[in-house]
Formats: sequence, structure tokens, C-alpha cells
Amino acid sequence: MKAWKKQGVGLENLKLVDVDIPKPGPKQLLIRVKAVSLNFRDKSIMDGDYLPDLMSKPFTPVSDAAGVVIGVGSEVTKFNEGDRVVSHLYTKWTDGAPTEDYGPTAVGGPNDGGLAEYMLLDEDAAVMTPSNMTDEEASTLPIAALTVWFSLVEYGKIKAGDTVLILGTGGVSIYAIQIASALGARVIVTTSSDEKGERVRALGAKEVINYVKTPDWEKEVLKLTDGKGAQHILEVVGGDSINRSIDALAQQGNIYVIGFLKSMMAEVNLFSLLSKQARIQGIFVGHRKAFDEMNKAFNELNIKPVIDTVYPFSDAIQAYEHLGRGAFGKIVIKVSE
Ligand SMILES: NC(=O)c1ccc[n+]([C@@H]2O[C@H](COP(=O)([O-])OP(=O)(O)OC[C@H]3O[C@@H](n4cnc5c(N)ncnc54)[C@H](OP(=O)(O)O)[C@@H]3O)[C@@H](O)[C@H]2O)c1
Repeated sequence: MKAWKKQGVGLENLKLVDVDIPKPGPKQLLIRVKAVSLNFRDKSIMDGDYLPDLMSKPFTPVSDAAGVVIGVGSEVTKFNEGDRVVSHLYTKWTDGAPTEDYGPTAVGGPNDGGLAEYMLLDEDAAVMTPSNMTDEEASTLPIAALTVWFSLVEYGKIKAGDTVLILGTGGVSIYAIQIASALGARVIVTTSSDEKGERVRALGAKEVINYVKTPDWEKEVLKLTDGKGAQHILEVVGGDSINRSIDALAQQGNIYVIGFLKSMMAEVNLFSLLSKQARIQGIFVGHRKAFDEMNKAFNELNIKPVIDTVYPFSDAIQAYEHLGRGAFGKIVIKVSE
């Protein structure tokens, strides 16, 4: 089969090679991969920024994959040949609290991911594809959508009428707009682009703040909420943005620390934090049980993924480059018909 392999740091070391089709172990599925989608994690791994020591050996990259089961191991009980499935990132985190060593169990680094004609998945690391989605749409769910669902629903117990502040309009943020508005929340979005601002209104955002024209966006959030602030904030920016987020937060509100686009380090104003009685919740995607629940809810709420561009398998490098330039919605690579 054809597979892309990360053979070193940088896109010049992402190579299309011929390798044997893998054989499923007793509890594994052999998947004919139909589509994958890219996340910031995939780019960051290729750039050598994301846990470089863990990612040093060659592997097939890309965590988010959708496909069809074409072979099952002798002890598989949950899936049959012909089932359409999606990969689950943290293969051993199925429910409850993760074990201490769940990070290295991830699909798409350090273990082989979906950027290949075939892949293996543990049956515990697969979920059924929502019936209302194509494989290309479903390939966008494992990281971006589950991260938002786990934040707002699993940790945040979001209610209709809550105000949700979403920073930026990247892959995670677009899902946040769709999920929060489908659950009846009032959504405020910050963006650097008025044009993207118009597009997020069409997805359910009620208010948009241009964070370039209004760098003190936290004050604008307070104005829009009569001084009360937002009950939920999806912090994808990182660095000193955390202090603006605390200022924009409602009393006893939740900040979900998801991203580090600006920086992994932050100096936090502890007085603001304690006087707001803020809850700051670290997020690392989510467990498989929540993924199953999310897929059912997506069917009911009729949430349809927003895809920017679909690239052919041979153009994987161009797809990564597009992600680096920025996109509105997910970048998908179609692997097979
Ligand atoms: N913890 C987890 O489980 C988890 C899961 C998924 C992703 N992440 C992390 O979350 C972050 C976002 O991921 P993504 O896939 O959504 O990335 P992405 O698609 O590349 O999103 C980038 C967007 O972020 C916005 N942005 C950049 N700098 C900003 C700033 N200073 N203020 C406000 N918005 C800013 C921009 O929006 P505009 O163009 O509208 O300005 C940009 O389009 C990354 O750091 C990623 O590693 C973490």
C-alpha cells in the first residue's frame, strides 16, 4: 500500500512510500482509510514543536481518520466488516479519568495514523461514523469536535442561555460555535477578520469582536453582557490571553485551556482568578464514551462539519501548507473512493 511517513522534522521529510498492508492483531480492526483531516497537532508534529522526543521515530502521521472496516481480529466483538468508523485519538482512554500514560497511546504520532491507504485501529479506539455524515465530514470529528464537546458538555455542563466566548475561527473554534449555538447558548466570537466574522454569524454567532481593531476585547465582552461576562470561554490562544479571558469571565465561570497558538507559558493574575472564583480546566481532547455520545447528539442536532478544502492523497504536503496559511473550516485529505 501507499503510506505517507514522517521521516524527520519539516514537510520535506514527509515522504510517500510503499509498505506492506498491516495485519490486525486479535483486538484490532483493519481499516480502508477513506479520508483524514488535519489539526494544528499534525502541523506542530511535522514542525518538530510537539513533544519532539516522543515523535522522533518514523511513523504515518495524522490523527483524524474515517474509513471502512475490511478485516477484524479474532477477539473483536464490537465491529464487523463493512462498518464505517472514525478513529479515536487517545486509544486507551475510553471512559472516566485517563491513566498517567495515555499521551503516548495517540493515533498519528507516536503511533501510525491515517495518512495511508490502510490503517490498524484497536477496537477500543474506533467509533461508529454518524449516519448523517460522509467519510470526509466524519474525518473532522476526532480532535476538534470532541475537544469542544468534552469542554462544554462533559466538564462545563453547558445550559441553554449561557454565554460562550470563543477565541478565533480555527478548526476548534468553528466547532465550538456550532455546538454551543445548537445547545441554545449565546455565542460571542473574536476574530482578526471582518469577513470571517460575517461567516461565523451564519453558523450561529450572535456577536463578533475584531481582536485586532479591539485589542481589549475582554472589555467589549463585559459591555455585551451588561458587565456579567461569559460563563464559558474556550481559550485556544494561550500565553497572556489567559488574563484577558479571566477578565471576560462571569463569576464562577469556566475557562477551558485548549490551545497555545501564542505561547505555552503564561503569567497569571492570581487576584483576578480568585476574585472571579474562576475554574480553569485543562483539556486534552476527550474519552471515547464522550465521542460516542457526541456523535449521537450531532445526528439529533444536525450539526454538519465545515470543510474548507478537500485535497487528493497525493497532495498531502499542499494540505499541510494550507493549514499553515490558515483556513476557514477543516482541511481534509481524501485517501480513497
Ligand atoms: N487541548 C486539546 O485537546 C486541543 C485540541 C485541539 C486543538 N488544540 C490546540 O488549540 C489551538 C487551536 O487549534 P485549531 O486546530 O483550531 O487551530 P487553527 O485551525 O490553526 O486555528 C487558528 C485560528 O486561531 C485564531 N487565532 C490565532 N491567534 C489568535 C489570537 N491571538 N487571538 C484570537 N484568535 C487567534 C485565528 O482566528 P482568526 O483567523 O479568526 O483571527 C486562527 O484562524 C492549537 O494550539 C491546538 O494545538 C488543543
